[in-house]
Amino acid sequence: MATEEEIAKVIESTDMVELVSPYVKLLKQGKNYKGLCPFHNEDTPSFVVSQEKHVAHCFGCGKGGNPINFLMQIKHISFNEALAELAQKNGISLNVKLPNSQKQDYTKYYELMQLATKFYQQNLTQTQSGKNALNYLYERGLDDKLIKEFQIGLAPSGLDQLYKVLKDANYLELDMLDLGLIGKNDRGYYDIFSKRIMFPIWDEKGHVIGFSGRIFDNPDKNLPKYVNTKETFLYHKGNILYHFAQAQPEILRKKRFILHEGQMDVIAANKAGFNESICTMGTALTLDQALFLKKYASEAIICYDGDKAGITASLKAIKIFRQTGINVHLVLLPDGMDPDEYIKKNGKEAYVTYFEEHIIDDVEYQFETLFLNVNLSDESVVEQVKRKAFDILRQISSQTAKDKFLNLLAKRLAVKLDSLIIDYNNYYTAYPKEDYVEESFLTDNFPNDVDNVAKNIKNDLFKRDYELRLFLYARSSKELALDIDSKIFEYMNAFSKINRQIWITLINNYYTQYETFDDKTFCSLLTEEQRQVYLDNLESLRGSTVVYDDNDLANIIKKMHEDTLKYENKQLSSQIDELADSAAKVAKISKKFQNRKQIMDVRRNK
Ligand code: GTP
Ligand code: MN
Repeated sequence: MATEEEIAKVIESTDMVELVSPYVKLLKQGKNYKGLCPFHNEDTPSFVVSQEKHVAHCFGCGKGGNPINFLMQIKHISFNEALAELAQKNGISLNVKLPNSQKQDYTKYYELMQLATKFYQQNLTQTQSGKNALNYLYERGLDDKLIKEFQIGLAPSGLDQLYKVLKDANYLELDMLDLGLIGKNDRGYYDIFSKRIMFPIWDEKGHVIGFSGRIFDNPDKNLPKYVNTKETFLYHKGNILYHFAQAQPEILRKKRFILHEGQMDVIAANKAGFNESICTMGTALTLDQALFLKKYASEAIICYDGDKAGITASLKAIKIFRQTGINVHLVLLPDGMDPDEYIKKNGKEAYVTYFEEHIIDDVEYQFETLFLNVNLSDESVVEQVKRKAFDILRQISSQTAKDKFLNLLAKRLAVKLDSLIIDYNNYYTAYPKEDYVEESFLTDNFPNDVDNVAKNIKNDLFKRDYELRLFLYARSSKELALDIDSKIFEYMNAFSKINRQIWITLINNYYTQYETFDDKTFCSLLTEEQRQVYLDNLESLRGSTVVYDDNDLANIIKKMHEDTLKYENKQLSSQIDELADSAAKVAKISKKFQNRKQIMDVRRNK
């Protein structure tokens, strides 16, 4: 532990106004400063900062305190981390080794990456060969300020220029290889990136951990548009939220973030003043990322491309954010454009206006996506849109919201409201709520295939339903879970593969360690994929009032038994098919054999 004196010294040497300023817009008021509290939502400022006393305190929610407390709360870090950060900032060396400094010290790797970043930057801005790349960036609407801010550079065309720079700076080849910058073949070491515009990728603290390299003047259409650093001990592509470190103060201030599809969009959005913009590295948003973001903001705005891939990805992201309880909003840009294209076409002012005026909630978003690329003069298309709309409609619980939705729909489809309501009621009766699996309907049916999807859901329904019910029962007590397991044990083939894995984890792993059930602990035992499915299961059970009863369990077991038999029959029949196939082959070959034999006999007898 650090000593009392050391702690006091750190507190006294910190300028509280400077520390708070990135997070709160402060106004001087007498001796103190005042602003809107970064820890809770408010319209009138009750967050007071005293430079003299080295405290910041909210009179509304009570949060704040000395510089260390403030930093701990605003950055969600430990006491020691906050202390170390402030000590370093103020040039105070702490005598005691802090527990977190026992963690792997990556300083030298960060420095290596920083040197590479600098090398690429210089190569872009200070060489003749950088001219082309620079022009490409200007052409795309970037200026020198943005290029600097995003530390954009250029990988030169030479074979090993970066390697030489790193070598001259006495870095180890082993480290260059491990960090994914340099490769090695029988002719020696070579640069991984060549002739690409280089975007540094930072971790959540702002260290460069990798690069994304964009092609710019190569006519070869077969080359990938972006090449990113391979997985290294620093760079895990699935975890990265590009630009988060820089966006963090703005995210905290606005309590929201904007999630984009690619780094060019993040940069364009920044140009328009949306500094709270971030993106993943071409990977789907994960639950872990959403949970991480939830610590900083209460609202997500998804602004993916308005094309089919963007919409599918949006619907997935909505689902993930819903699981975390973050408020989800979206912006759908016209004509399938991405922010970068929109700004290039219409300018940043137009973008800001469009963006702020078109923030819609997830239900409205789903409504809007119904009308993308559809031809409403085709009667069957109108029917399809209608049914998809009805499926969205039943997620809405408020009657006034339903009315509004139906009104809008009638207008958009140019049909009478009364008829629409009749159709809706008929549809609802034909597919009652329990018979319906909401998410797969919304995400899987994009290629106008409502009928098939509906059929599959109906067939799969009871099966999916009993898996869910069994999980629900098994969560209520260990004793019941083990009892159920002993009864369904031999029919487990009736479960989907992934639910089977989840069930096995529950019985063999969870309940062997814990007596009572807890979702969070259980989830920690699952793989990411299993966890998704499990949380989906829970989500579809939300609001259901199923309670355990022996009768239901008996029915489920009976059904599982039937399904297992069906499954086994299917396997048997495919085995029979295979055998029949081989039998046919045997017959064919033996016939050939007979023929040959005859021919040979004939010859011999000649
Ligand atoms: P620009 O074409 O430069 O405007 O980029 P964009 O951001 O519009 O790209 P797009 O929407 O096609 O892709 C979004 C994100 O997916 C990019 O930022 C990349 O992170 C990733 N991505 C796109 N193309 C590739 C590729 O060829 N390889 C890899 N590894 N990632 C890619
Ligand atoms: Mn783009």
